[in-house]
Amino acid sequence: MNDLNTIYPKLKNKDINFNNLDGWAISVECYNWILDNIPEGETIVEFGSGSGTMELCRYHKVYPIEHQERFTRLAPKANYILADIVDGWYDPEVVFNNLPDEYSLIIVDGPPNLDQVKTRNNIEKYWDRLNTSVPIIMDDTHREDEYDFAIRTAELLGKDWVEYKGWQKNFIVIR
Ligand SMILES: C[S@@+](CC[C@H](N)C(=O)[O-])C[C@H]1O[C@@H](n2cnc3c(N)ncnc32)[C@H](O)[C@@H]1O
Repeated sequence: MNDLNTIYPKLKNKDINFNNLDGWAISVECYNWILDNIPEGETIVEFGSGSGTMELCRYHKVYPIEHQERFTRLAPKANYILADIVDGWYDPEVVFNNLPDEYSLIIVDGPPNLDQVKTRNNIEKYWDRLNTSVPIIMDDTHREDEYDFAIRTAELLGKDWVEYKGWQKNFIVIR
């Protein structure tokens, strides 16, 4: 992983708004990994949207799946899929009727925990309806539950994983 001394000058040349990264959003390090690994113009499916979606839209087509309407107005270029939470995950009818046919990356960054229930892990019920041949980013793996879920998913899918540690938070890439 490049450190921030390398990443910041590189992204500054690309006119990135750093205020939209880290905190609730994907990290600067995660964004940098995406720019390095997913060719410009290709499509990203993002479970859980926020300010980071605005930056993702600069160089990629983005399909964010989001359950809160207020977070579907931030990035005009995004192809938002607004889906209620049903049985602990995004309404699968809405999600799978609206996903693009082809995509190059899946980001798992939502839904947020509701009433202490780890909702984002419920994506595991739907792996067979997603294209798991593309890289999968599991965000927030500095947290034990997210880390354990990422490792379990890599084992389930029979794939390798690498954890990237950022200045604020970590993520795992499964591929
Ligand atoms: C970790 S956030 C997803 C962040 C997104 N991937 C990004 O890079 O901006 C998970 C969920 O929290 C909610 N959320 C997003 N930004 C938020 C914020 N600034 N404060 C509170 N909730 C937020 C949204 O419902 C989102 O689906």
